[in-house]
Amino acid sequence: MIFCEQARRKFIPIASGKGGVGKSMLTANLGILLAAYGKRTVVVDLDLGGSNLHTYLGLKNTRLGIGNFLQSKDIGFERILQETEHPNLWFVPGDVLVSGTAAITAAQRRGLIRRLEKLDVDFVLLDLGSGTHHNVMDFFLASNCGVLVTNPQSPSVLNAYGFLKNAVFRELQRRFSSHKKISEYLKSIQNDSQPNATPKLTEIVERIRKFGKSHGAVAEEVVSALKPFVVVNMIRTIEDFTIVNGLRELTERNLMLDLGCLGALFHDEAVVLSLREQKPFIEAAEQSFTAAQLNRIAQKLLQSPRFPEMPLSLEEYADSFELAQIETANDFERRGGEPVSETEPGSGVSMPEGIQDSDLVALISAQKQEIEDLKTTIRNLTLGGQGAPGGQTGFGGR
Ligand SMILES: Nc1ncnc2c1ncn2[C@@H]1O[C@H](COP(=O)(O)OP(=O)(O)OP(=O)(O)O)[C@@H](O)[C@H]1O
Ligand SMILES: [Mg+2]
Repeated sequence: MIFCEQARRKFIPIASGKGGVGKSMLTANLGILLAAYGKRTVVVDLDLGGSNLHTYLGLKNTRLGIGNFLQSKDIGFERILQETEHPNLWFVPGDVLVSGTAAITAAQRRGLIRRLEKLDVDFVLLDLGSGTHHNVMDFFLASNCGVLVTNPQSPSVLNAYGFLKNAVFRELQRRFSSHKKISEYLKSIQNDSQPNATPKLTEIVERIRKFGKSHGAVAEEVVSALKPFVVVNMIRTIEDFTIVNGLRELTERNLMLDLGCLGALFHDEAVVLSLREQKPFIEAAEQSFTAAQLNRIAQKLLQSPRFPEMPLSLEEYADSFELAQIETANDFERRGGEPVSETEPGSGVSMPEGIQDSDLVALISAQKQEIEDLKTTIRNLTLGGQGAPGGQTGFGGR
């Protein structure tokens, strides 16, 4: 695991519990922005079996990629590390040209991570597949500060919670893989499908401590080292943002995780239009609010020399959720307080795998409270001067 605080290179895996929430869109555009700020950046398509990062970069799928690298000993990593038309930006394609690499082995995953670690660059962004397969988890856990993308709808947020829960378990399992009894204990609780059966992380750590005091300390250390960040994509109203506050509470309470927030992005039809035009969104819609929001996320990554602790330059908003919420409220204010567009009806609220009813109830009631709190906060806040740049991405001047 790479500790971003210590590493000169920032390894940023981008994952989600549910598919289609905007991981690839975020990876491509953040990559372009970071490169435009002069940072040597590599974007890697690790969504094996579903690679499409190239489309968000405005590229065709004609290049050798990770699939070829894994399947042929004759193809070295240098051959799949592709230059792009953007100075400072390299792209590693996925497996579009070869099939059957979706299920790679743990050794292959480790090999790939080691190879990526050796790259002499500032940022390595990993576009991952959705879900909690080991493939995704191990790449996500290649860094302690992975980014989790979610949409504001309950199923997506619950899947995000499920993802984080799985990430913590996977990390504990990896750490205690040579300790048979602890491994078995972790497996038994993770497989337990009874409602409300999964104990809180505090209880799990206590139980691990019973196997030996030092094991308890290690478990605590493993969990506290994880500092994931959430990005809420496709929001349409300010209330949408509040559901992630529920996610934060749930993760803190049940998983002992210190979840941060990098920001929110508006739902924007221009994202789909840019795909049709085969142009990166950040270039096709440079003056949009969403481009400004992406730019703000890129700046947060840049400004913090000790990412994931941030934002260092805005000490009064050391709470990243509060900051993101204010920024988002400010964005809505600037666009006249109107929702982005009608919320689409019926997003198919089915219970995601591994999520229990009580979690949903807790999340929804937290959400209601958050909406009330938010309304009060917004009423009380002076929104000027927080740097939400409508039409000013700062990107055009590069
Ligand atoms: N902010 C946005 N506003 C509107 N549409 C968006 C936005 N972000 C992404 N999209 C659209 O949502 C769809 C899914 O986006 P994307 O492919 O980036 O998601 P993903 O999480 O990478 O999906 P997958 O899990 O399939 O890899 C695409 O059609 C994309 O154009
Ligand atoms: Mg994708």
